[in-house]
Amino acid sequence: MRIVRAVVYSGAGGPEVMAVEERPDPVPTAHEVLVAARFAGLNPADLAQRAGRYPAPPGAPADIPGLEVAGTVLACGTAVQRWREGDRVFGIVGGGGLADRASVHERHLAAVPDGLDDLAAAAVAEAFITAHDAVFTQAGLGLGERLLVNGASGGVGTAAVQLALAAGALVLAGVRSERAADQLRGLGAEPCCPTRSPSASAPWAAWTSSSSSSAHRTCPSTWSCWRPRGGSWSSATARVPTPSCRCAC
Ligand SMILES: NC(=O)c1ccc[n+]([C@@H]2O[C@H](COP(=O)([O-])OP(=O)(O)OC[C@H]3O[C@@H](n4cnc5c(N)ncnc54)[C@H](OP(=O)(O)O)[C@@H]3O)[C@@H](O)[C@H]2O)c1
Repeated sequence: MRIVRAVVYSGAGGPEVMAVEERPDPVPTAHEVLVAARFAGLNPADLAQRAGRYPAPPGAPADIPGLEVAGTVLACGTAVQRWREGDRVFGIVGGGGLADRASVHERHLAAVPDGLDDLAAAAVAEAFITAHDAVFTQAGLGLGERLLVNGASGGVGTAAVQLALAAGALVLAGVRSERAADQLRGLGAEPCCPTRSPSASAPWAAWTSSSSSSAHRTCPSTWSCWRPRGGSWSSATARVPTPSCRCAC
């Protein structure tokens, strides 16, 4: 029997519950691919699992974290059609990513583009595919439209900012520190720290309405005046016309 090294959680808690242990090699089922994982992404969900707040889904290793991997196909299940041994792939798993090898459903993998190394590819699936779904599939962002990204300094938020900018949108990035504002400005977004100071809220007021001081006063803490798919939003406290905005909160 072959052995893999895996990061395991021995219980719920902090770093003290983590260890590297040897486990049996995963055996791919008919539609799974065995990936030699050169790199694995680390996500807030892995930390939530370690704290005991985010159990692995049925079928995933209960104590080996890791939701995304990048590496090379080592073996294919009997029914796999999309991949061959040696292909460079990245993708999503329900758990078990923080190990030398992981079994991944063939449809949860994508080919690593030539211009991307395995290190970067391992951090694409969770953040960028989630952001792509929110920004384009759910919100239907179009060229030249405006996008508000709340929590823009996070993994998914930063990905949403970059994807939207690449698609030709104007991006307002909601953050809560000057350091994050500098980072988002560096990516090309207009940062906004609405709860910090009147000057930090200025982009918000300018974006929502040229004359809408009520938006400035009522919305920054909740962002509630922007609808998920544009148009105007009515609430008990605000009614602000936002004809073309998009929100990926
Ligand atoms: N496929 C999926 O459905 C999928 C995949 C991945 C993630 N997610 C979800 O997407 C969300 C973001 O994930 P992530 O990986 O990007 O997390 P993350 O990297 O921890 O980012 C969280 C963001 O939220 C901000 N934030 C946290 N508490 C806040 C508060 N009280 N007020 C304002 N901003 C606050 C953080 O700001 P600071 O930087 O200032 O702390 C940061 O920008 C999570 O809810 C996660 O569960 C879903």
